[in-house]
Amino acid sequence: MLKTASSRNTYSALLAVFVIVGSILIFLVYFPPSSTSCSSTYVDFTLVKEKVIVATNKTEKPVEKPLLLLWFWPLGRRWNFGSCKTLFNIDNCVLTDDRSLYDKADGVIIFHRDIMHDLANLPQSPRPPFQKWIWFHVESPTNTVKIPGLENLFNLTLSYRRDADITVRNELTVLRRTEMEGEFVMPKKDKVVCWIVSNNDPSTGTSTRARYYQELVKHIKIHVYGRAFTGHSLRYEEYYPTLASCKFYLAFENSIHRDYITEKVNGPLVAGTVPVVLGPPRENYEQFIPPESFIHINDFSNAKALADFLLQLDQNDEMYLNYFKWRRYFKAKPHLLTLEEEFIQPVCTACEYMARDNTYYKVVHDLYTWYFG
Ligand SMILES: *[C@@H]1O[C@H](CO)[C@@H](O)[C@H](O)[C@H]1NC(C)=O
Ligand SMILES: *[C@@H]1O[C@H](CO)[C@@H](O)[C@H](O)[C@H]1NC(C)=O
Repeated sequence: MLKTASSRNTYSALLAVFVIVGSILIFLVYFPPSSTSCSSTYVDFTLVKEKVIVATNKTEKPVEKPLLLLWFWPLGRRWNFGSCKTLFNIDNCVLTDDRSLYDKADGVIIFHRDIMHDLANLPQSPRPPFQKWIWFHVESPTNTVKIPGLENLFNLTLSYRRDADITVRNELTVLRRTEMEGEFVMPKKDKVVCWIVSNNDPSTGTSTRARYYQELVKHIKIHVYGRAFTGHSLRYEEYYPTLASCKFYLAFENSIHRDYITEKVNGPLVAGTVPVVLGPPRENYEQFIPPESFIHINDFSNAKALADFLLQLDQNDEMYLNYFKWRRYFKAKPHLLTLEEEFIQPVCTACEYMARDNTYYKVVHDLYTWYFG
């Protein structure tokens, strides 16, 4: 008898506990606490309804940041991973260079040139099923060494190409001009055509740009700078002022490939100079910069016709100023000049990509057919 009564009491007590705990849980679901002791790591309840359940579980991280392993420091240059936040305000993945975290990494960034022709330099442990390998390469196909064995290894491509999975264009950035910024002011100019070139002496070289230069210089004076001509590079402080002092700048790419349009074009646009471009077709440039912001060598039947046109513009301010009209609405953003920064932005961009919902399966087949094709 006594025993039964005590059991019944236990039942009642348990039932009461259930009811109370249940009520609290229901209350928490409908009226979640608006602040917690460590609220900074929690999602904002008012923002995402479905996250409430997650947020009430105090032991669980509300948002899991993907882990991204940088397998090589590109060309051995190190930098602080915190730069993604300070330079680009990107903070939604965890970057590491610690290879012992390979098994946990959601992505592994592999810099093409650092493979050094030896597949033994790649991760050797089995690839976790969720992990994506990212092929990171910034050179044009002409300057790319095909390393056999990479054709079907990667899941994502990180390149300047617009059809890469992760596109980085740190060198060519035209932005909408805001009301806040003043009008564009034309810099003072005392030269017509300039060119800065660091490698392949263009007076002897046989590349497309060297041959074009040799033809052009017969018809118009070209002020030349840089290691190829003068034996020493322009200092950073001299770069934009030099560009600004010329009416035209020869933005000749070292090799001609789709989307391979570099800081050689961005520099003059930033400085307030008209780039004369040699590279992929005009249509390709127009996908990045305003049509009337540049002169394309293909618009002329030969170098003499181009030289004549430049000399004509030099004499005709109205015609010359047509190349500046776009600046009322847009402006070019200075590009990053150091190699380190050239590598930092792609890695940060990859970080941002990995943080987006991209759980789908992906394979890059025939890497080289894509890249060189
Ligand atoms: C709360 O999070 C912990 C740790 O991640 C997990 O083990 C537990 O199952 C979660 N509980 C609920 C109710 O989701
Ligand atoms: C990544 O690519 C490799 C090689 O093709 C493939 O075996 C693997 O399943 C892919 N993984 C993901 C997550 O897409």
